[in-house]
Amino acid sequence: MNISIGFVSEPKTKADLLVCGVFEGESNSPKVLQSAEPAAYQTIQTQIQKKRFSGKEGEQYSTYDGQFKRTGQILIVGLGKKDSWSREKFRKRVAGILSFAKSQNSGHVQILAETFQDKSIHLDEAASLIAETLDRAQYRFDKYLTKKKDTPKKEVSSIELLFSKKDQKEVLEEAVEDARTVADAVNFTRTLINEPANVMSPRELARYAREIARAGKMKCQVLGPSEIKKLHMGGVIAVSQGSHEPAQFIILEYGSAHKNKGTICLVGKGVTFDTGGISIKPSRDMEKMKYDMSGAAAVLGIFKALSRLKLPLHVIGLAPCVENMPGGGAQRPGDIIKMLNGKSVEVINTDAEGRLILADALAYTERYKPKAIIDMATLTGACAVTFADKCIGLMGTDAALVEKVRKAGETTGERCWELPLWDEFYDIIKGHHSDIMNAGSGYGGTITAAMFLKEFVPNKPWVHLDIAGTAWVDSDKPYNSRGATGVGVRLVLELLKNWK
Ligand code: BES
Ligand code: MN
Ligand code: ZN
Repeated sequence: MNISIGFVSEPKTKADLLVCGVFEGESNSPKVLQSAEPAAYQTIQTQIQKKRFSGKEGEQYSTYDGQFKRTGQILIVGLGKKDSWSREKFRKRVAGILSFAKSQNSGHVQILAETFQDKSIHLDEAASLIAETLDRAQYRFDKYLTKKKDTPKKEVSSIELLFSKKDQKEVLEEAVEDARTVADAVNFTRTLINEPANVMSPRELARYAREIARAGKMKCQVLGPSEIKKLHMGGVIAVSQGSHEPAQFIILEYGSAHKNKGTICLVGKGVTFDTGGISIKPSRDMEKMKYDMSGAAAVLGIFKALSRLKLPLHVIGLAPCVENMPGGGAQRPGDIIKMLNGKSVEVINTDAEGRLILADALAYTERYKPKAIIDMATLTGACAVTFADKCIGLMGTDAALVEKVRKAGETTGERCWELPLWDEFYDIIKGHHSDIMNAGSGYGGTITAAMFLKEFVPNKPWVHLDIAGTAWVDSDKPYNSRGATGVGVRLVLELLKNWK
């Protein structure tokens, strides 16, 4: 799909479909329509004035083909009340436009981008929102289907965003390009996750990490089982020992030229399949546990974008990757293991494996003396119970960093809600025969998991994102087909873009 910037006064070609947004309660047809297609302006004006079109959120009105000179069909979309307009509503409307275009077999679509704007969304952000959402909405994971589903007779091959002012062409083109880089990273992450566990093994993830690094001229190091043992990463060893798949500890580095500005560490949980181990999971929904590497996949996606966005930062990405299987060599409930930072852990439940591998990865960040550590993990079912697929569980040790992350998520629509890490919660996982236990009573599951991680984080600002609920959707959403969402990628990139 080609996405380009054009101008209302000089559209490059005749479009099959011209799209225009109208807020609820507006009494006139949008001005820009007058210059785009004067005859259509009048048609729409009549619709609005006769109250046949009120601009309610999601309302659509379309004209017939052949009615106008400069364009094919015209689609008017209702945006709801202007004072409750938001980026998220914008994204939903963009997804709606794409599915309408597909249903009409419109190959070439023009969007009057300014009609979707309000005071808080600048021109370049409007362009960026449209481009990013179109690419995310287009994504399908259908490589294993021998007969592709719902393919339109004619693909939407080009989308032109029309603006009225010509002086901003370069800014807008850059906004579109960056947005597409970000969307490409999100879709790349989604594919890593959607790929089944018989394909996306720890070694396959490591192969992708190396490939990204090579393409983006970044450093990548992958530690295998013997190096992991030498370093005494007791958590990674214990979780992986029941599987035939060797553990892989991925280390990515971007922007070593910017080291003097301090280092940001990103950590992602990479359990390529979580059976629960000896504390085996029920079979219902177990097939979904291929998405237990969503944190690691997000880290890889972020690095893919970093090298293309050229942000002036030094970023380290860590992804401990393992498969959690029961087997002759698997760890047992009751085993006591020693972690990278020397602490001992009693493995109460082998299904609480994510915190074991993350503990070693978080302890590993110590050597970078980072100014911020952010981890992403599909860590607890309890988080999905609390927030469904609507919200990320946010916890951390530094109020300023927590707030920055929350704000970034608000902007990208990956909303976060903070849970407390009070000392009292530590009592639940305090050890008897070991320093600490990997599982508590079951109550407060999302918090106790984070309290466990906190024991392994160096004394640096740290934020933990529990993406168990948000990394996957069970049904098609406006801009996210069923399956992986790539949550975290846009949030962290937004955070890094604004990093000071
Ligand atoms: N990967 C799961 C968490 C999960 C569950 C993610 C459902 C997405 C959907 C994690 O490894 C796990 O099994 N956690 C246990 C912890 C418990 C044993 C303390 C859980 O949440 O039940
Ligand atoms: Mn588990
Ligand atoms: Zn897990």
